[in-house]
Amino acid sequence: MQVESVVTNYHLEDDQLMDNTIRPESIDEYIGQKDVKENIRIFIEAAKMRNEPLDHVLLYGPPGLGKTTLAFIIAHELGTNIKTASGPSIEKSGDLAAILSSLEPGDVLFIDEIHRMPRYIEEILYPAMEDFSLDIIVGSEGNSHNIKIDLPPFTLVGATTRAGDLSAPLRDRFGITSKLQFYSVDELKEIIKRTARVLGVEIEEEAALELAKRSRGTPRIANRLFKRVRDFALVKGNGIVDLAITEEALERLKVDKMGLDNTDHELLLAIIEKFNGGPVGVEALSSSIGEEVTTIEDVYEPYLLQTGLLKRTSRGRIATAKAYQILGIEKK
Ligand SMILES: Nc1ncnc2c1ncn2[C@@H]1O[C@H](COP(=O)(O)OP(=O)(O)OP(=O)(O)O)[C@@H](O)[C@H]1O
Ligand SMILES: [Mg+2]
Repeated sequence: MQVESVVTNYHLEDDQLMDNTIRPESIDEYIGQKDVKENIRIFIEAAKMRNEPLDHVLLYGPPGLGKTTLAFIIAHELGTNIKTASGPSIEKSGDLAAILSSLEPGDVLFIDEIHRMPRYIEEILYPAMEDFSLDIIVGSEGNSHNIKIDLPPFTLVGATTRAGDLSAPLRDRFGITSKLQFYSVDELKEIIKRTARVLGVEIEEEAALELAKRSRGTPRIANRLFKRVRDFALVKGNGIVDLAITEEALERLKVDKMGLDNTDHELLLAIIEKFNGGPVGVEALSSSIGEEVTTIEDVYEPYLLQTGLLKRTSRGRIATAKAYQILGIEKK
């Protein structure tokens, strides 16, 4: 049976449909990320008291940890509108100029994947972020001149899975930078129970716990696994998500006890078997398992590093003793 990865396909269509119903709207409904949440709460309150826009916010961290959700919550808490764009989709300077000039005072402009914005677009953003002004060149070659347009004060919320890819001048223009962390099992359990409640599905305590343990610290994966298990419960059981159904479903989905999937296993196995445990460069690993370097770096590695199965050194990736242990391979 071909199993699609629950980890890599992180932009499945049905996810997006589901996102709209289960995405928390207010900061109080946003589970976990205690430090980030507390800081943002204070900055929002202060901005409101001063009657000024909130400082620009950069949110970064692995996929599915709630960056987009938080951007929407920020607008909700500020009581403003949110306009959204994504880095790679802004191709011409006119695209960005159009978005910026459509903003109303205090609005949030959310730019997803902001590290993938072309450099010349970034440069338009600098004066916009700093002085709320838009410097554009009008006219044709030989007869062009610069004009300066005032913009309403706004808050830029940028999201990225790779803060390191952001240029220094752009990074420096964010007043608030928040790194999202992987969620604890308890937090994920709460998220799963909340999702079940919102979708009107009954879930048993131990089932929620088991799902939480296998969700790679990631709410998106927790919700996705929950949804698959719910289907199993409906078809094979009585609709109630219990531990037995959950275990069976997860087995079929090839999600192991730690939440690792096929690709995680392949990656660790490749390091151990083909590269003698490492160190191995990410490019060699990429061609060996047929996954893109960026997918390995952004999607798989963060969790493997966090759980201590993988180590990154200046000479490459190393599989740890723990990796040998969970794969049941003896270290030579
Ligand atoms: N703190 C949270 N509490 C409850 N649900 C959450 C939380 N964070 C995220 N979620 C849920 O997880 C899903 C994924 O979150 P989101 O789309 O915000 O992630 P992301 O960080 O923007 O991912 P990407 O990097 O892929 O864009 C959403 O559907 C949302 O419902
Ligand atoms: Mg997102």
